[in-house]
Formats: sequence, C-alpha cells, structure tokens
Amino acid sequence: MASGTIAPFSTSKGPGLDVAIHEFQYQGEANAQVVVYATAKNAAAGLAKSVTEAAAAAIKAKGSFTLVLSGGSLINMLSSVAEAKGVDFSKWWVFWVDERNVPHDSPDSNYKGCQEALLGRVGIPAEQVFAIQEGLPVKQAAVNYEGRLLGLPPSVLPRTPDSLPVFDLILLGIGPDGHVASLFPNRPETAATSGWVLPVSNSPKPPPERITFTMPAINAAKEVVVVAVGDSKAEIVQRVLEVQALPGALPAQMVRPSAGKLKWVLDSFSAQELRLEDWEAGGKAFPRNV
Ligand code: 6PG
Repeated sequence: MASGTIAPFSTSKGPGLDVAIHEFQYQGEANAQVVVYATAKNAAAGLAKSVTEAAAAAIKAKGSFTLVLSGGSLINMLSSVAEAKGVDFSKWWVFWVDERNVPHDSPDSNYKGCQEALLGRVGIPAEQVFAIQEGLPVKQAAVNYEGRLLGLPPSVLPRTPDSLPVFDLILLGIGPDGHVASLFPNRPETAATSGWVLPVSNSPKPPPERITFTMPAINAAKEVVVVAVGDSKAEIVQRVLEVQALPGALPAQMVRPSAGKLKWVLDSFSAQELRLEDWEAGGKAFPRNV
C-alpha cells in the first residue's frame, strides 16, 4: 500500500467502556486507529487508560515518560489519571504542544488549567513540568522553550536521525477550523518543515500570542492521540477524516506520525457524521472523500 493511503485493517469491540475500535494503516502497517466510545465519559476513561499504559511502557523502556498536553477541553478528560493506581509520577515529564503567552495564573493559561485538573494532584517533580517562561516577548518565549527541550538528555527525550524530538505521547485537541496545537489553517507556522517550537502572533483564536510545536515535531512522536468529543466536533471530525483539503487548510489532516502511532479518540456524538462502515468496506485513499 502506497504511503499516504489508509486502508481498513480490522474492527473490534474493545473490553468494557462500550467502544468500537477501527484500525487502519497509512504506512504499510496498522498504525492508525479511530476509537469511538459511546459517551464522552467513556472516552475520558479510555483516554486516561491510554495515558497510563503509555507511561508504564515508556518507563519500562527508558526510565521516563514524556507527555505533551494541549489546552482546551481535553485537559478535564485527564483528571481521572490522578486516581489511577500504580502510576510512578516521579518519572513523568510534562510539556505543552501549545501554550498561550500569558502569566501562569491567568485564566487563559493552559498550564494553570492542567495544574488544577491533574498536575497539582500528583507528585511530578516541579523541574519536570515544562511551563512556558513568563514575561517574555513571544519570539523569545518560543526560543526559550525550544532551548529547554534541546537541553534534555536523550534518555528523557530521544531524537530522530533528523534531530527531531521523539516524545512518548502527544495529546491534541482540535478546533472547529481544524487547528491542532496553535497551528491554524493556512498560516506560515503550519507550513514549517523544520524547527521544534515557533512563536504565533495574531492567533485567530484568542489570546493572540502563543507558542506551538511544529508539525514535524508533532509527527516525530512515538504516539499522537487526537481527542474530539461532543456534537460540536462532529462537522470538523467528518471534514478532517473524510474530505481531502488543500495543503495547510486543515492542519489536523497533517497529523501523521512518521514512525509512531496515531489514534483518534471520539465519542458517538463527534463520530456521528463519519461513515465508518464504508471505511471498513474499503480500500479508498485517506482522507476518504466519501
Ligand atoms: C489552545 C488549545 C487548542 C485546543 C483546541 C480545542 O491553546 O487553544 O491548545 O489547540 O486544543 O482549540 O479546544 P476545545 O477542546 O476546548 O474545543
């Protein structure tokens, strides 16, 4: 199968949680899943389980787990991670795929939201939580963040042969315009083919100043999970997964880990416009254009 196509691999009912797991391939082996849970609550429980499983596997393999978070509604779905049993939070390293250039105590801060939902309730060492440096002009904030990532040893953050960072797990929300991280449609940051972290000014979603991972940095990860639940995401989920857009028009469509796994976590509401039966029937290029 040519790279860039995605074909049905198998469909199975997962254990508990009333979930349908659809597995696909876009690069020769099964490395893409669309997982549809009955409810948002089940999706949150499934997401929390994926995170703790990825953490256990990474800690076993390299003694550390690097988790990259987004802002938006996703973070509240992670709150049950704090109650999970047997998790070694001392080995976790936490980053943001995008962050607003605001003080840590601002209601707009993704760091603050995560601190309240999860980080403040578990024992991750403070030096392993990579919040944005406060009080810098946005360009410097991006340089500062990238510099701190570059300073991490390969035992925590391995690199690809192209010197891109290999995070263990990146969690992405998706906006109604198809943005992920702070990579918005038809913006120069979205088209960047190198670098790890970029500044964003005049963001179409407020607040206007942000820093964001680049698409190459996202796609170098071991695993990327895109999370979208609820009715309000149904239209964009359908467009991203079933309608091929022009390059850069739907950033979420550019999320394709080059050696890692891709998972979409949906609920029956966000998945309501998808024709997954047609996907299973087969063999069309991805996105489906059904
Ligand atoms: C941000 C976010 C952003 C978010 C999506 C989805 O800083 O604004 O990181 O990319 O994840 O806009 O947000 P919702 O899940 O709240 O719709």
